[in-house]
Amino acid sequence: MLNRRNFLTAAVGVAAAGGLAACAKEDKASTGTSGGGGSKTITLGFSQVGSESGWRSANTDSVKSAAKEAGYNLKFSDAQQKQENQISAIRSYIAQKVDVIAFSPVVVTGWDAVLKEAKAKNIPVVLTDRSVETSDQSLYVTLVGSDFTDEGRRAAKILEKVLEKAGHKGAVKIAQLEGTTGAAPAIERAKGFKEVMDASHKDDWKIVVSQTGDFTRAGGKQVMAAFLQSNPDINVLFAHNDDMAIGAIQSIEAAGKKPGKDILIVSIDGVKDGFVAMSEGKINAIVECNPLLGPQLMDVVKKVKNGEPVERWIKTKEGDFMQDQAKAALPSRKY
Ligand code: AHR
Repeated sequence: MLNRRNFLTAAVGVAAAGGLAACAKEDKASTGTSGGGGSKTITLGFSQVGSESGWRSANTDSVKSAAKEAGYNLKFSDAQQKQENQISAIRSYIAQKVDVIAFSPVVVTGWDAVLKEAKAKNIPVVLTDRSVETSDQSLYVTLVGSDFTDEGRRAAKILEKVLEKAGHKGAVKIAQLEGTTGAAPAIERAKGFKEVMDASHKDDWKIVVSQTGDFTRAGGKQVMAAFLQSNPDINVLFAHNDDMAIGAIQSIEAAGKKPGKDILIVSIDGVKDGFVAMSEGKINAIVECNPLLGPQLMDVVKKVKNGEPVERWIKTKEGDFMQDQAKAALPSRKY
């Protein structure tokens, strides 16, 4: 997982090494098509997690359109939420001698071997959206993405406001719908939320049930139905993404309860459908996680290829939204 201190110390050197390596490879290559100013077109191999959520679709569109805009040759593959598919895609990009590899890792562990293969062939790797755990920080150059731990903290903080606004008294019995098991956003959002809970709400808040819904609507619906069976007195849902919250809403309604009233709901992402549910009063607050990473990613890829220094973690700017802001914000949502 990300370690800020290591990041900052290793950043510039690693970026420069990756860039030099890429330049050396470019010297050997003679078949590249010509972009503007006679420079070789950048070939970027990108391995996407899958298409599990509205967030992911927006992220894919952003990467594809930004690559087109930048004039890159993008090789894109969808791993369908399977690590083995991502590893195969990365190996294929190495074999094709792309200039830079970018990927959004489905889970945090198990990448060292394939990243070492990329390093051995001097192909720099940029992480996008999600981080990895590695003993060797030089195996990737940078991460372009959100601070998920902070999103978890923000979710707990905004829940304080939601409870206050609802005039809630008494025990707060929380159901947590976790993202994909082993994925950075699932681990870190749970961690950030618990941090605030343990620091400020040890006596009144309790996570009574917590399980993965795999970041999907179907998962959220199915798991919430089971939660309501085993714990009918749940009064708060913390969903690690909007899609799971939307699935859960269907189960809450099927159980004869009112989402947003009988069960207060906080979720993460801020996709359009999440805002629609919020404007209908069914989600109480949303912590934004911005999927529009394409333009920043293309910028970083170019710098990495040119051997320019880049920050070790390029963080995304995000906001938080309460239900009463939903209607006004909806028309301007970009994803
Ligand atoms: O990694 C980002 C997370 O992945 C988003 O919050 C979720 O919707 C997606 O599937």
